[in-house]
Amino acid sequence: MAYNSHYLPILTILAAVFLFFDLPSTVLGNGEWQEVDPNDPKALVNGIFAIDEHNKVAEPKLLFESIFKAEKQVVEQGINYRIVIQAVKDSRSFSSLYQAIVFVTPKFKKLISFNNFSTKSD
Ligand SMILES: *[C@@H]1O[C@H](CO)[C@@H](O)[C@H](O)[C@H]1NC(C)=O
Repeated sequence: MAYNSHYLPILTILAAVFLFFDLPSTVLGNGEWQEVDPNDPKALVNGIFAIDEHNKVAEPKLLFESIFKAEKQVVEQGINYRIVIQAVKDSRSFSSLYQAIVFVTPKFKKLISFNNFSTKSD
């Protein structure tokens, strides 16, 4: 009994950490990119975040259309989302694909990279 109660605080903290990071991904983790459903709300939220951040610092500004592909990678401090986003420059231009990497922690998120994926795949 004394043994169990001694470990209770640390178990509670571990449980809270696992819940926060979403258990399955934490267990799978460590560097491997895992496919994420493009309809997953986190893929959508981080894809829109990537376009917003890109538009703050770069021209031409892009209009978000949809998520084409999403993957995530669990790293020590958080999760990297690698998202291929379909976007347009304006209503008269064709859609292009852009690949963004967004680093997400419980406290903040940051756009790591943003590339024109249509140009790359030639
Ligand atoms: C991205 O690349 C495609 C294909 O080369 C091009 O049509 C599009 O204008 C590029 N997007 C930007 C923002 O330069």
